[in-house]
Amino acid sequence: MEYNIECSKCGRASTNILDFVCSCGAPLEIRLHLHFEKKKVRRRNYSLWRYIEFFPYVKEKEITSLGEGWTPLIKFSDGLYFKLEQLNPTGSFKDRGSTVLISTLQKSVRKAEGYVSEDSSGNAGASVAAYAARAGLKAKIYVPEKVSGPKFNQIRFYGAEVVKVSGSRNRVAEEAQKPEKRKFYVGHILHSLFREGIRSLAYEMAEQLDWHVPERVYLPVSAGTLLLGVISGFKHLVESNTIETVPKIVACQTKQVSPLYHHFKNLRYTPPRRIASIADALVSVNPPLLNLMLKRLREAKGDAVIVEEDEILHAFVELAGKGFFVEPSSAVAYAAYKKQLRNKEASKHDKTVIILTGTGLKTVLKPS
Ligand SMILES: Cc1ncc(COP(=O)(O)O)c(C=O)c1O
Ligand SMILES: [Zn+2]
Repeated sequence: MEYNIECSKCGRASTNILDFVCSCGAPLEIRLHLHFEKKKVRRRNYSLWRYIEFFPYVKEKEITSLGEGWTPLIKFSDGLYFKLEQLNPTGSFKDRGSTVLISTLQKSVRKAEGYVSEDSSGNAGASVAAYAARAGLKAKIYVPEKVSGPKFNQIRFYGAEVVKVSGSRNRVAEEAQKPEKRKFYVGHILHSLFREGIRSLAYEMAEQLDWHVPERVYLPVSAGTLLLGVISGFKHLVESNTIETVPKIVACQTKQVSPLYHHFKNLRYTPPRRIASIADALVSVNPPLLNLMLKRLREAKGDAVIVEEDEILHAFVELAGKGFFVEPSSAVAYAAYKKQLRNKEASKHDKTVIILTGTGLKTVLKPS
């Protein structure tokens, strides 16, 4: 077998690719038993699917693609690179997860005349809705009651059914998971297939730098799918002897929503009563993948940073002023990089990649 599915905590095996949590409650993970080989990259395919050989559960004729991945990696200044994930088809890195998730599961869903269910009012909801539309599947996206704005409109335009749920964010997830006839819960936070798709980001960064990986990678963290996917991709490259080491992965959070940072630094975290951050995609105060994130970030000898609201705004405005119109949530990673430079925890001479995760076109901020 080229892969197996097992619990990230107790190791219990699962054989059903539709499963996402173990009976012990911990998230499942997919483990690959095949090496990355440069010669197996399909160099003429300019999408994430150039790496199809390393997604053994996906059948080529079942791929649902909107042209995601293979986003530009550009040099911003000496040693500093931006990975332009905002250029993905729905405007964020989430398309990497959605294309792998939907491509793998669409046949089972179609056979059962089912529909896919997801909980998110943001980029992931829009992305899953788009890939379901492309696959010709119905999607039900569960969102918090008060949601509105460009991302919500995008979900609706893709034709998904939207179910508004009152109460906490956890209640939204519970409703989305509630068993119903023909419902296939594919929630991006829990489903390891979504994180699997994010592995491709590590492959791309390595390949685009001619297999000389950067010293540091900065990325924003909320639910942790981006962080876990990127670590897993670099680990796969190391285990395959394609690169020597995993870069220092720096998990960037807002001061308000920073459970990973606090736990990583062995500090106590008390979330604010109300989140009022301009980084409106980073809202997971109690992420279900927290323990897994801590474990993987420690194993990878990564780091975590938090930034203040004024630092985020400043970074957002500065990036836009240089032509990079990204979400405030994406600017968190740039703000964190600048903070570490100021504190001399990072050096301008280290080859560094900042992942610009989402487009500024969806922002609700108004220019002053
Ligand atoms: C633009 C953007 N950046 C970063 C993130 C954080 O990703 P994750 O939830 O996988 O940690 C999100 C998640 O919604 C996002 O929409
Ligand atoms: Zn378990």
